Amino acid sequence: MISIKELEVNYENNRRFFCRKRQGQNVIDNLNLKVEKGTCAGIIGESGSGKSTLAKVICGLLRPTSGSLKIEGTSIYSKKKGGLSTGIVFQDYTSSVNPRMSVKEIVEESIIAVGRGDHTVSEYLEMVGLDAGFMYRMPHELSGGQLQRVCIARALATRARVLLLDEAVSSLDAHTQLEIMELLKVLKRKYDMTYLFITHDLLTATFMCDVLHILYRGKIVESCDVSRLSELRHPYARQLMEAIL
Ligand SMILES: Nc1ncnc2c1ncn2[C@@H]1O[C@H](COP(=O)(O)OP(=O)(O)O)[C@@H](O)[C@H]1O
Ligand SMILES: [Mg+2]
Repeated sequence: MISIKELEVNYENNRRFFCRKRQGQNVIDNLNLKVEKGTCAGIIGESGSGKSTLAKVICGLLRPTSGSLKIEGTSIYSKKKGGLSTGIVFQDYTSSVNPRMSVKEIVEESIIAVGRGDHTVSEYLEMVGLDAGFMYRMPHELSGGQLQRVCIARALATRARVLLLDEAVSSLDAHTQLEIMELLKVLKRKYDMTYLFITHDLLTATFMCDVLHILYRGKIVESCDVSRLSELRHPYARQLMEAIL
């Protein structure tokens, strides 16, 4: 579903477009990743390891310095009709919505962006467990969990088959984290989606994911099936394991 080859991102080089000499460090460095259709792949890494940079590249918000990135065999820079190829849910739900827009307007924006599909705003809200009464509420009138549900509805409304969840549950309390993860699992089954679950938290990743990829300083240093966590060898991966044990 997702195929990434030799991806490099260097913010300095992106800025210095006309500079011949390569400068600065690669934030993403020769990264290779394959995500199978219908699975939930975890990207685990500490703060600053390049997780959000990777997410931005995959959803087309940021152009990589080099490398190739395909979703369902198509390079993400060739536009397809009938919806976006990826949707994204961010960690910071308060800053990822416009505070002056109602819930209805927030979800409607996606519907307008990709063209009207099969569902209405209230149907998208229903999918994430919010009744139609929430339509006219403003972001500040919602709890963190409710607002993150709105963000998930907004991502669903893009009709994307791949959902990037960048620390999507990290700012929520433990109980709400569990609720949102259960919801994500149900949606994934129902709409046959592929997830990239990006987090610094190995515990939530083991709950959500089928496969884990350890991101360390912009490289995937190790990958393993979630049932074989004990086989992780990279020192950073061992450190994460010990922290949760
Ligand atoms: N727009 C930007 N311009 C320059 N450097 C950036 C930018 N965004 C992120 N970085 C740098 O890239 C590195 C990785 O950041 P990020 O991808 O946000 O990591 P993570 O999400 O894993 O915490 C950090 O060192 C950060 O300072
Ligand atoms: Mg981040």
